[in-house]
Amino acid sequence: MNLQELIHISKRKLSEAGIENSRFVMMSLFRGVLSLNEADLILDGEKEIESKLSAKYMKAVERVVEGEPIDYVLGFREFFGIRLEVTRSVLIPRNETEELVEIVIDEEKNSKVFADIGTGSGAIACALARNIPSSLVFATDISRDALMLAEKNARTNGIFNIRFIEGDNISGLNDFLDSVEVIVSNPPYVRTGDLDSLDINVRKYEPMVALDGGKDGLDFYREFLKYLPTGKKVYLEISQYEAEGLRELVSDLNGYSCEFKKDLSGNYRFMILRPEV
Ligand SMILES: C[S@@+](CC[C@H](N)C(=O)[O-])C[C@H]1O[C@@H](n2cnc3c(N)ncnc32)[C@H](O)[C@@H]1O
Repeated sequence: MNLQELIHISKRKLSEAGIENSRFVMMSLFRGVLSLNEADLILDGEKEIESKLSAKYMKAVERVVEGEPIDYVLGFREFFGIRLEVTRSVLIPRNETEELVEIVIDEEKNSKVFADIGTGSGAIACALARNIPSSLVFATDISRDALMLAEKNARTNGIFNIRFIEGDNISGLNDFLDSVEVIVSNPPYVRTGDLDSLDINVRKYEPMVALDGGKDGLDFYREFLKYLPTGKKVYLEISQYEAEGLRELVSDLNGYSCEFKKDLSGNYRFMILRPEV
């Protein structure tokens, strides 16, 4: 099969399946699976593709058609300019989380010791560690598989100022908590009752431990705030539907002022706690 034919068949399959941005998806698979780009298509459309390679490409198209997120199919996702391997053990890092990292880097470039609780693929930890090279970042997760992948991602990207700890919520930081100045987290925050209404691609493929925030979506935050000592700077990603619930939760937190920030789509997405002076 030549390139033109491959394009033709895959374009048809993706459009028939109602895949949004089918051209973008097709080109991403082209780059990711065949290591070819748009110019190859224009200049070399008649080029024969080895049957093993075209079968691999068509298999990837099938997976997308079945609803698997393209990042899992490709096996990686770019986050803050860092290429992260993603498997179904970890959430695919989202654009909103890049906004969270941007806020933290902007406000905390002079801080030294960070924690990323629930690191998943290592997205936040790697971005902070790379962009604040004099920092030390503790990255934790309750999932051992996620932690192993995060560690691999740091290593592959030549990032060595992260320590990985398997642990539960803020208590998982154990004795290291004292030295941490800045805590960042994008915890699971979907209400259990809302999980069924998530996009099928998310519900079927992404890990529940990364999504399920309990009955009111606040389980992680409740536990976190219970054990949060005074004097830390805290940057949390939140659900737009939880700002009110969180406002109530932090109302009896002593020693902190609280700010809610919106994301680029105009939804409340971040909660920042700063020690009161
Ligand atoms: C929403 S995902 C975020 C992953 C990554 N930080 C990101 O932003 O792409 C939440 C992560 O928290 C982890 N997690 C869930 N409950 C946890 C807990 N109690 N303690 C530590 N990590 C937890 C999950 O395994 C998952 O990796």
